[in-house]
Amino acid sequence: MVVVEGPGKKKKPANVTVRQMDVDDLAAVFHLGENLFKAEVAPNLYRTWDEYEVAGLFLEDSEYCLVAEMDDRIVGFALGTTVSKTRSAWKYGHLVWLGVDVSLQTRGIGEKLFHQFKTLMVEDGVKILLVDSEANNLAALRFFRKMGFGNPRQHIYLSLNLSTPRRAPSKKGNGNRAAKERSSS
Ligand SMILES: CC(C)(COP(=O)(O)OP(=O)(O)OC[C@H]1O[C@@H](n2cnc3c(N)ncnc32)[C@H](O)[C@@H]1OP(=O)(O)O)[C@@H](O)C(=O)NCCC(=O)NCCS
Repeated sequence: MVVVEGPGKKKKPANVTVRQMDVDDLAAVFHLGENLFKAEVAPNLYRTWDEYEVAGLFLEDSEYCLVAEMDDRIVGFALGTTVSKTRSAWKYGHLVWLGVDVSLQTRGIGEKLFHQFKTLMVEDGVKILLVDSEANNLAALRFFRKMGFGNPRQHIYLSLNLSTPRRAPSKKGNGNRAAKERSSS
């Protein structure tokens, strides 16, 4: 997924149809995402990609869920939503998930999906479109830059493992620190 190709012979564009997702596509989209968002390559995406994520976005905003189809097979998807703030005239669009079958990447499918998604957003009055990517997902970052995204902001993910009990700080350590503080005052 993070393969970044240098300049070379351009691959033949794939002959795909981009259309609105329907309920029969749910399983295919989910399984395609499972192949893309793997724990070893994209841990944050892996953690949040599941059946409920796909079904939730579809139920909430089916008009912003697109699939790319080739020979009756789902080979890509774009799933998004919009956010309107109270007391703000601005409407934001969020492209939450974008994926293309590994064997068909770099053949223009992502671009086709994105352009259709962007058209829907513009028609709906969205002023700003947001995407996020893991910092080491160079292919996605290059893709989004090519689509016109800029102004990257850092966002740090922290995690807390709740399955292992946290050890209370040792009394000895505290005592030493207290003694040190006392002796230096
Ligand atoms: C990101 C992704 C959707 C791009 O889809 P794609 O169909 O391969 O992209 P396209 O062929 O339309 O590429 C358009 C442009 O993006 C850039 N790009 C895409 N893949 C690239 C790669 N592997 N290396 C470098 N640049 C890349 C190029 O600038 C390309 O333009 P060019 O062909 O004129 O050089 C695809 O790589 C993917 O599914 N990745 C895994 C899932 C993911 O990380 N999704 C994003 C976060 S949710």
